[in-house]
Amino acid sequence: VLAKPADLEAVAGPSAFVQEVTEVKHYTDRLFKFRTTRPAAFRFRSGEFVMIGLLIDGKPLYRAYSIASPSWDEELEFFSIKVPDGPLTQHLQKIQPGDALLLKKKPTGTLVNDALTPGKRVYMFSTGTGIAPFASLIRDPETYEKFDQVILTHTCREVAELRYGEELVEATKNDPLIGELASEKLVHYTSVTREDFPRQGRITDLIESGKLFTDLGVPPLDPAIDRGMICGSMEMLRDTKALLEKAGLNEGANNKPGEFVVERAFVG
Ligand code: A2P
Repeated sequence: VLAKPADLEAVAGPSAFVQEVTEVKHYTDRLFKFRTTRPAAFRFRSGEFVMIGLLIDGKPLYRAYSIASPSWDEELEFFSIKVPDGPLTQHLQKIQPGDALLLKKKPTGTLVNDALTPGKRVYMFSTGTGIAPFASLIRDPETYEKFDQVILTHTCREVAELRYGEELVEATKNDPLIGELASEKLVHYTSVTREDFPRQGRITDLIESGKLFTDLGVPPLDPAIDRGMICGSMEMLRDTKALLEKAGLNEGANNKPGEFVVERAFVG
Protein backbone atom coordinates (compact mmCIF):
# COMPACT_ATOMS: atom_id res chain seq x y z
CA VAL A 1 0.00 0.00 0.00
CA LEU A 2 2.93 2.34 0.47
CA ALA A 3 3.32 4.49 -2.59
CA LYS A 4 5.76 6.88 -4.16
CA PRO A 5 4.57 10.46 -4.73
CA ALA A 6 3.83 10.01 -8.46
CA ASP A 7 1.54 7.03 -7.73
CA LEU A 8 -0.76 9.11 -5.54
CA GLU A 9 -1.20 12.18 -7.71
CA ALA A 10 -3.99 10.48 -9.68
CA VAL A 11 -6.10 9.73 -6.56
CA ALA A 12 -5.44 12.95 -4.62
CA GLY A 13 -8.12 14.94 -6.43
CA PRO A 14 -8.64 18.67 -5.92
CA SER A 15 -9.09 18.46 -2.12
CA ALA A 16 -5.78 16.77 -1.21
CA PHE A 17 -2.03 17.31 -1.53
CA VAL A 18 0.50 14.52 -2.05
CA GLN A 19 3.43 14.89 0.37
CA GLU A 20 6.62 12.96 1.04
CA VAL A 21 7.71 11.45 4.36
CA THR A 22 11.03 12.92 5.48
CA GLU A 23 11.61 11.26 8.88
CA VAL A 24 10.13 8.46 11.00
CA LYS A 25 10.92 7.67 14.64
CA HIS A 26 9.40 4.83 16.64
CA TYR A 27 9.17 5.29 20.42
CA THR A 28 7.40 2.13 21.59
CA ASP A 29 5.37 -0.67 20.03
CA ARG A 30 2.37 1.69 20.36
CA LEU A 31 3.75 5.12 19.39
CA PHE A 32 5.71 6.75 16.57
CA LYS A 33 6.25 10.16 15.04
CA PHE A 34 6.73 11.08 11.39
CA ARG A 35 7.52 14.25 9.49
CA THR A 36 6.54 15.19 5.94
CA THR A 37 7.17 17.92 3.43
CA ARG A 38 4.74 20.84 3.64
CA PRO A 39 3.03 22.40 0.62
CA ALA A 40 3.76 26.11 0.34
CA ALA A 41 0.01 26.72 0.07
CA PHE A 42 -0.89 24.76 3.24
CA ARG A 43 -1.75 27.17 6.09
CA PHE A 44 -3.01 26.21 9.55
CA ARG A 45 -3.27 27.58 13.07
CA SER A 46 -1.09 25.87 15.69
CA GLY A 47 -3.22 23.23 17.45
CA GLU A 48 -5.39 22.30 14.46
CA PHE A 49 -5.83 18.87 12.88
CA VAL A 50 -5.95 17.65 9.29
CA MET A 51 -6.97 14.45 7.48
CA ILE A 52 -4.09 12.18 6.43
CA GLY A 53 -4.55 9.31 4.02
CA LEU A 54 -2.98 6.32 2.29
CA LEU A 55 -4.13 4.39 -0.71
CA ILE A 56 -5.53 1.11 0.66
CA ASP A 57 -7.00 -1.55 -1.64
CA GLY A 58 -7.07 1.04 -4.40
CA LYS A 59 -9.00 3.62 -2.37
CA PRO A 60 -7.82 6.56 -0.27
CA LEU A 61 -8.43 6.05 3.47
CA TYR A 62 -8.19 9.14 5.67
CA ARG A 63 -7.99 9.70 9.45
CA ALA A 64 -7.76 12.90 11.48
CA TYR A 65 -4.32 13.83 12.81
CA SER A 66 -3.36 16.76 14.98
CA ILE A 67 -0.51 18.70 13.43
CA ALA A 68 2.32 18.52 15.97
CA SER A 69 4.59 21.07 14.29
CA PRO A 70 4.12 24.82 14.74
CA SER A 71 2.65 26.94 11.95
CA TRP A 72 6.06 28.49 11.13
CA ASP A 73 7.81 25.14 10.54
CA GLU A 74 8.69 24.31 6.94
CA GLU A 75 7.79 20.64 7.48
CA LEU A 76 4.77 18.95 9.11
CA GLU A 77 5.06 16.65 12.11
CA PHE A 78 2.60 14.04 13.42
CA PHE A 79 2.59 11.77 16.50
CA SER A 80 0.63 8.57 16.03
CA ILE A 81 -0.60 5.50 17.79
CA LYS A 82 -0.04 2.08 16.17
CA VAL A 83 -3.07 -0.15 16.33
CA PRO A 84 -2.33 -3.70 15.07
CA ASP A 85 -5.65 -3.95 13.21
CA GLY A 86 -6.29 -0.20 12.89
CA PRO A 87 -7.56 0.44 9.33
CA LEU A 88 -5.04 3.23 8.71
CA THR A 89 -2.35 2.83 11.39
CA GLN A 90 -1.58 -0.83 10.62
CA HIS A 91 -0.23 0.50 7.28
CA LEU A 92 0.89 3.96 8.34
CA GLN A 93 3.27 2.50 10.95
CA LYS A 94 5.33 1.00 8.09
CA ILE A 95 6.02 4.27 6.28
CA GLN A 96 9.62 5.20 5.50
CA PRO A 97 11.31 8.39 4.30
CA GLY A 98 10.55 8.81 0.60
CA ASP A 99 7.07 7.26 0.83
CA ALA A 100 4.09 9.41 -0.10
CA LEU A 101 0.90 10.20 1.75
CA LEU A 102 -2.24 12.22 1.16
CA LEU A 103 -2.95 15.39 3.07
CA LYS A 104 -6.35 17.10 2.86
CA LYS A 105 -6.10 20.79 2.13
CA LYS A 106 -8.40 22.07 4.91
CA PRO A 107 -7.18 21.95 8.53
CA THR A 108 -9.60 22.63 11.41
CA GLY A 109 -9.93 22.32 15.18
CA THR A 110 -10.78 23.93 18.50
CA LEU A 111 -7.45 23.67 20.36
CA VAL A 112 -6.31 27.06 19.14
CA ASN A 113 -5.28 30.19 21.01
CA ASP A 114 -8.13 32.13 19.36
CA ALA A 115 -10.74 29.96 21.12
CA LEU A 116 -9.50 31.00 24.59
CA THR A 117 -10.23 34.31 26.28
CA PRO A 118 -7.11 36.10 27.58
CA GLY A 119 -5.68 34.79 30.85
CA LYS A 120 -2.46 34.50 32.82
CA ARG A 121 -1.83 30.77 32.80
CA VAL A 122 -2.78 28.07 30.32
CA TYR A 123 -2.94 24.39 31.22
CA MET A 124 -2.56 21.94 28.33
CA PHE A 125 -3.85 18.62 29.67
CA SER A 126 -2.83 15.61 27.55
CA THR A 127 -2.73 11.83 27.70
CA GLY A 128 -1.01 9.51 25.20
CA THR A 129 -0.97 10.91 21.64
CA GLY A 130 -3.11 13.80 22.93
CA ILE A 131 0.14 15.71 23.38
CA ALA A 132 0.33 16.27 19.58
CA PRO A 133 -1.64 19.55 19.26
CA PHE A 134 0.30 20.93 22.23
CA ALA A 135 3.58 20.01 20.55
CA SER A 136 2.48 22.59 17.98
CA LEU A 137 1.21 25.19 20.45
CA ILE A 138 4.27 25.17 22.76
CA ARG A 139 6.43 25.98 19.71
CA ASP A 140 4.26 28.94 18.69
CA PRO A 141 5.40 32.38 19.92
CA GLU A 142 1.73 33.48 20.03
CA THR A 143 1.13 31.11 22.99
CA TYR A 144 3.82 32.92 24.99
CA GLU A 145 2.52 36.33 23.95
CA LYS A 146 -0.91 35.37 25.25
CA PHE A 147 0.10 33.68 28.54
CA ASP A 148 2.66 34.28 31.33
CA GLN A 149 2.83 30.58 32.15
CA VAL A 150 2.25 27.50 29.98
CA ILE A 151 1.79 24.21 31.83
CA LEU A 152 1.90 21.10 29.65
CA THR A 153 0.73 17.99 31.49
CA HIS A 154 1.30 14.59 29.89
CA THR A 155 0.15 11.33 31.45
CA CYS A 156 0.88 7.94 29.89
CA ARG A 157 0.55 4.32 30.87
CA GLU A 158 4.29 3.65 30.60
CA VAL A 159 7.49 5.65 31.13
CA ALA A 160 8.72 5.09 27.53
CA GLU A 161 5.56 6.77 26.23
CA LEU A 162 6.69 10.07 27.78
CA ARG A 163 9.84 10.14 25.64
CA TYR A 164 8.40 12.08 22.67
CA GLY A 165 7.24 14.87 24.99
CA GLU A 166 10.54 14.97 26.86
CA GLU A 167 12.53 15.33 23.63
CA LEU A 168 10.06 17.91 22.38
CA VAL A 169 10.27 20.11 25.48
CA GLU A 170 14.06 19.92 25.58
CA ALA A 171 14.33 20.84 21.89
CA THR A 172 11.80 23.65 22.35
CA LYS A 173 13.79 25.15 25.23
CA ASN A 174 16.92 25.08 23.04
CA ASP A 175 15.21 26.41 19.91
CA PRO A 176 16.77 29.59 18.48
CA LEU A 177 13.35 31.14 17.79
CA ILE A 178 11.33 30.37 20.93
CA GLY A 179 13.86 28.80 23.33
CA GLU A 180 14.16 31.86 25.52
CA LEU A 181 10.39 32.32 25.90
CA ALA A 182 9.84 28.60 26.48
CA SER A 183 12.62 28.37 29.09
CA GLU A 184 11.00 31.21 31.00
CA LYS A 185 7.32 30.20 30.72
CA LEU A 186 6.92 26.50 29.87
CA VAL A 187 6.50 23.83 32.57
CA HIS A 188 6.35 20.14 31.60
CA TYR A 189 4.46 18.06 34.18
CA THR A 190 4.51 14.30 33.59
CA SER A 191 2.91 11.31 35.30
CA VAL A 192 2.64 7.58 34.64
CA THR A 193 -0.20 5.23 35.60
CA ARG A 194 0.97 1.66 35.00
CA GLU A 195 4.67 1.63 35.89
CA ASP A 196 6.95 2.95 38.61
CA PHE A 197 7.76 6.63 38.09
CA PRO A 198 8.53 9.51 40.45
CA ARG A 199 5.01 10.90 39.85
CA GLN A 200 2.14 8.48 39.42
CA GLY A 201 -1.55 8.81 38.75
CA ARG A 202 -4.14 10.09 36.32
CA ILE A 203 -4.21 13.87 35.77
CA THR A 204 -7.81 13.93 36.97
CA ASP A 205 -6.73 12.47 40.34
CA LEU A 206 -3.80 14.91 40.55
CA ILE A 207 -6.22 17.82 39.97
CA GLU A 208 -8.80 16.53 42.44
CA SER A 209 -6.29 15.87 45.22
CA GLY A 210 -4.69 19.28 44.62
CA LYS A 211 -1.28 17.63 44.14
CA LEU A 212 -0.90 19.23 40.69
CA PHE A 213 -1.15 22.71 42.19
CA THR A 214 1.08 22.07 45.23
CA ASP A 215 3.71 20.44 42.95
CA LEU A 216 3.63 23.51 40.67
CA GLY A 217 3.44 26.00 43.54
CA VAL A 218 0.38 27.71 42.07
CA PRO A 219 -3.10 28.40 43.49
CA PRO A 220 -6.01 26.08 42.57
CA LEU A 221 -7.85 26.62 39.25
CA ASP A 222 -9.31 30.11 39.02
CA PRO A 223 -11.59 31.14 36.12
CA ALA A 224 -10.33 34.71 36.37
CA ILE A 225 -6.77 33.80 35.37
CA ASP A 226 -6.51 30.12 34.36
CA ARG A 227 -7.29 28.69 30.92
CA GLY A 228 -7.37 25.04 29.85
CA MET A 229 -6.97 22.92 26.73
CA ILE A 230 -7.70 19.19 26.90
CA CYS A 231 -6.70 16.38 24.51
CA GLY A 232 -6.95 12.65 25.20
CA SER A 233 -9.41 9.74 25.05
CA MET A 234 -13.16 10.36 25.24
CA GLU A 235 -13.20 9.30 28.89
CA MET A 236 -10.25 11.53 29.78
CA LEU A 237 -11.93 14.51 28.07
CA ARG A 238 -15.18 13.93 29.91
CA ASP A 239 -13.58 13.60 33.34
CA THR A 240 -11.11 16.48 32.94
CA LYS A 241 -13.80 18.76 31.51
CA ALA A 242 -16.03 18.03 34.52
CA LEU A 243 -13.24 19.14 36.89
CA LEU A 244 -12.64 22.39 34.99
CA GLU A 245 -16.37 23.12 35.00
CA LYS A 246 -16.51 22.41 38.73
CA ALA A 247 -13.76 25.04 39.15
CA GLY A 248 -15.99 27.54 37.29
CA LEU A 249 -14.37 27.52 33.83
CA ASN A 250 -16.66 27.61 30.76
CA GLU A 251 -16.03 25.79 27.49
CA GLY A 252 -15.23 27.94 24.45
CA ALA A 253 -15.20 27.47 20.68
CA ASN A 254 -13.80 29.23 17.65
CA ASN A 255 -16.88 31.45 17.27
CA LYS A 256 -17.25 31.99 21.04
CA PRO A 257 -13.94 32.01 22.97
CA GLY A 258 -14.12 30.65 26.51
CA GLU A 259 -12.00 29.54 29.43
CA PHE A 260 -11.23 26.04 28.16
CA VAL A 261 -11.41 23.98 24.95
CA VAL A 262 -11.52 20.25 24.27
CA GLU A 263 -10.50 17.91 21.45
CA ARG A 264 -10.34 14.17 21.13
CA ALA A 265 -6.99 12.47 20.45
CA PHE A 266 -7.73 10.50 17.32
CA VAL A 267 -7.05 6.76 17.01
CA GLY A 268 -7.42 3.93 14.49
P1 A2P B 1 -4.88 4.40 33.21
O1 A2P B 1 -3.60 3.65 33.00
O2 A2P B 1 -5.28 4.49 34.65
O3 A2P B 1 -5.99 3.92 32.32
P2 A2P B 1 -4.86 5.54 26.97
O4 A2P B 1 -3.58 5.07 26.31
O5 A2P B 1 -5.79 4.45 27.36
O6 A2P B 1 -5.53 6.67 26.24
O7 A2P B 1 -4.38 6.16 28.37
C1 A2P B 1 -3.42 7.16 28.44
C2 A2P B 1 -3.39 7.66 29.85
O8 A2P B 1 -4.65 8.28 30.17
C3 A2P B 1 -3.18 6.55 30.87
O9 A2P B 1 -2.23 7.00 31.81
C4 A2P B 1 -4.56 6.38 31.46
O10 A2P B 1 -4.57 5.94 32.80
C5 A2P B 1 -5.11 7.77 31.40
N1 A2P B 1 -6.57 7.81 31.44
C6 A2P B 1 -7.43 6.88 30.94
N2 A2P B 1 -8.71 7.23 31.18
C7 A2P B 1 -8.67 8.38 31.86
C8 A2P B 1 -9.69 9.24 32.41
N3 A2P B 1 -10.99 8.95 32.30
N4 A2P B 1 -9.29 10.36 33.05
C9 A2P B 1 -7.98 10.65 33.16
N5 A2P B 1 -6.98 9.88 32.69
C10 A2P B 1 -7.31 8.76 32.04
